[in-house]
Amino acid sequence: MYDLNGKSVLIVGGSSGIGLATALAAAAEGARVTIASRSAEKLAAAKAQDPALDTATLDSTDDAAVEAVFAGGKVWDHIFVTSTAPKSGGAKTLATADAMAGMDGKFWSGYRIARFAKIAPDGSLTLTSGVRSQRPNASGMLQSAINSAVEGLGRGLSVELAPVRVNVISPGIIETPLFGAMPAPDREAMFERMRKELPVRRLGQPEDVALAVISLMKNPYISGTTIVVDGGALMALTI
Ligand SMILES: NC(=O)c1ccc[n+]([C@@H]2O[C@H](COP(=O)([O-])OP(=O)(O)OC[C@H]3O[C@@H](n4cnc5c(N)ncnc54)[C@H](OP(=O)(O)O)[C@@H]3O)[C@@H](O)[C@H]2O)c1
Repeated sequence: MYDLNGKSVLIVGGSSGIGLATALAAAAEGARVTIASRSAEKLAAAKAQDPALDTATLDSTDDAAVEAVFAGGKVWDHIFVTSTAPKSGGAKTLATADAMAGMDGKFWSGYRIARFAKIAPDGSLTLTSGVRSQRPNASGMLQSAINSAVEGLGRGLSVELAPVRVNVISPGIIETPLFGAMPAPDREAMFERMRKELPVRRLGQPEDVALAVISLMKNPYISGTTIVVDGGALMALTI
């Protein structure tokens, strides 16, 4: 309790951004950490940052692959699911297939892992949503719907999987490779606006979210809730 030393931690989406920062933080606390994602190259690059990390290639949208990864029956102490982000776009612009792929990636990945993983009774499962669940915008309509569904999934699973604790982490804008596909000038303009307008007057870093996820793993009295890590964005008009 209150301690990750010697605990087994699986981070699905652990080769980059928020997942990697959480993996490094858990490992620094003495946990035995496995990071899983699709790309062997990204996993190898992440492992180079901490050779103690174990790696597993996994596509969390692949039902059979997720079942196979957990087929050995290993009991994990803590699992954090932070893989996949839906495409942006409104209902009038985004193809239905793309919108459905977004739901498949973000909502159903969490469902699949909850379905097949074995977690210790004093352990935890943490899913990832995002502040668009509470603050939609015209191009983030889908994020609003999917993140709301993830938060509902977390609440429901906290009852079904009890005493395993289940929570959701909801990040605001965090500087990660997720924004790598944006044209650099647009990305920098958005980041600069965040630095000026967020109540905390700084841009969120993956380590800021990792700190909260580690707390959700360790605190035995938090379950069925969503923790927002957004630099006060929901209090401002900036996002
Ligand atoms: N950054 C933000 O501002 C922000 C804000 C709100 C919410 N979020 C949410 O936070 C989560 C993590 O975002 P991030 O910013 O850390 O992104 P990131 O740096 O792009 O990391 C995403 C991770 O997920 C893995 N991944 C992607 N698709 C996968 C799949 N199908 N199966 C398994 N692994 C997969 C990626 O590795 P591979 O490519 O190797 O699979 C990578 O390790 C996402 O759900 C995102 O929606 C982020």
